Amino acid sequence: MIDFDKKVNRSGTGAVKWDWYKDRDILPMWVADMDFTSPPAVIEALKQRAEHGVFGYTWHTRELVDVIIERLHRLYQWQVQPEWIVWLSGLVSGLNVTCRAIGEHGDSVVTTIPVYPPFLSAPQNQDRTLATFMMAKNNGDWQFDLDAFEKAISPTSCLFILCNPHNPLGRIFTRNELLNVAEVCEKHDLIICSDEIHCDLLLDRDKSHIPTATLAPEIAERTITLMAPSKTFNIAGLGLSFAIISNEGLRKKFERAKQGIVPYPNLFGYTAALAAYKEGHVWLQQVLDYLRENARIVYERINGLSGLFTTPVEATYLAWIDARHLPIENAHKFFENAGVGLSDGREFNGPGYLRLNFGCPRRMLADALDRMSDAIQRLESA
Ligand SMILES: Cc1ncc(COP(=O)(O)O)c(C=O)c1O
Repeated sequence: MIDFDKKVNRSGTGAVKWDWYKDRDILPMWVADMDFTSPPAVIEALKQRAEHGVFGYTWHTRELVDVIIERLHRLYQWQVQPEWIVWLSGLVSGLNVTCRAIGEHGDSVVTTIPVYPPFLSAPQNQDRTLATFMMAKNNGDWQFDLDAFEKAISPTSCLFILCNPHNPLGRIFTRNELLNVAEVCEKHDLIICSDEIHCDLLLDRDKSHIPTATLAPEIAERTITLMAPSKTFNIAGLGLSFAIISNEGLRKKFERAKQGIVPYPNLFGYTAALAAYKEGHVWLQQVLDYLRENARIVYERINGLSGLFTTPVEATYLAWIDARHLPIENAHKFFENAGVGLSDGREFNGPGYLRLNFGCPRRMLADALDRMSDAIQRLESA
C-alpha cells in the first residue's frame, strides 16, 4: 500500500509548482501535477533504463503500441490501429499542432469557457481566431449550452476543441452530452479535437469515460483524440503523449503540421509510459481512492465557507470554486496573501473563480483549507 499521506520534499528539484512560491509561506495548490511519487514500477523501470547508460535517439517500441491498443480496447472497446497513433512530446503541442493543421489563416476555432488556458492561446498562436461559449450551470451541474455553441460558430469555423473530461469543471460527460456536441460539429462540419488527458482520473464511480471517437464511426472520422499517461501516473515532467487519428487524410495533415517542429518524446517518457500502462494499475486504484476522499473533503469544506461554492469533482484532482460572492476584488490575491496559492480563474476565462489542486497529502490539503477558512473569518470580523 502506497503511503500517499507521506510528504515528499520537492523543493530544490525545479518543480514548477513549488518553485513559484519559493521561500514564501504559500502552499502551492495550482499547477496540475500531484505531490505523490509515481507507481513503484515506473520508478524501477526508469532506474533500470538509466543504468543501461546509452541514451541515443529512441523511438517507441512495438510493445508500447500493443499495450496502448490493448488498454483502449479493454477500457472502451475501441479498436485502434497502430498507424493511427501519432507520438507527441506534450499535449499542449498537440493542441497547437491541431490548430495549425486544421483550417486556414484567420479561420475560427471554437471552445468552451472556462477551460484549460492553452485551449485559449493555441488558436491565436497558429493564426486562427478564437470563439468561445460559456458552459451553463443546470441543476447544479456544468453542462454544454448547445444554443450558445451554435451561436459561437461562424462560416469560418473549422475546429472545436473539447476537454473530455473537463478541466477545470471536473465533469465526465455522458454519451448523450457528447452526442449532442458531436451533432453540432457534424452539422457545421467542424473537426473535433478531444483532449482526453484526464480520462483515467475518474472519481465518480457511477460514471465512465467515453472517448469522443468511439461515439460513432462518422464521428471518429472527424476526431483527433489527444491522450497521455502523464496526469494519470504523475509523470508530466517526462513529456510523452500521443494523438489517435483514424482518418488518414486528417492524420496526414496533423503529421505535416508537426513536421520538423515537435520533437519525438524523451526516451524516459517511453520507458515510464510502458511501465505505467503495464504495471501501474494497482497504484492508480489506490491514488483514485485517496483523491476521492480529498475531493469529498474539498466539497464539504469549501461549501461550508461563506462566499465560496463548488460542485462535486467527477474527474481530475482539480476543484473549480466560485468566489464571486466574496466581498473582495481579487480572490486569487486574497488567498495568496493568506498563504494558499490557487489558480486564478481569469486564466481559464472564468473571472471570479479559483481552481484548487487537491492532488497532495491530506495534511497539506487540510492546512490550505484551514488557511482559507481563517482568511474568510478574518474578513467577516473586520
Ligand atoms: C486538459 C489538459 N490538456 C493538456 C495538459 C498538459 O499537457 P502536457 O503537459 O502534456 O503539455 C493539461 C495539464 O494540466 C490539461 O489539463
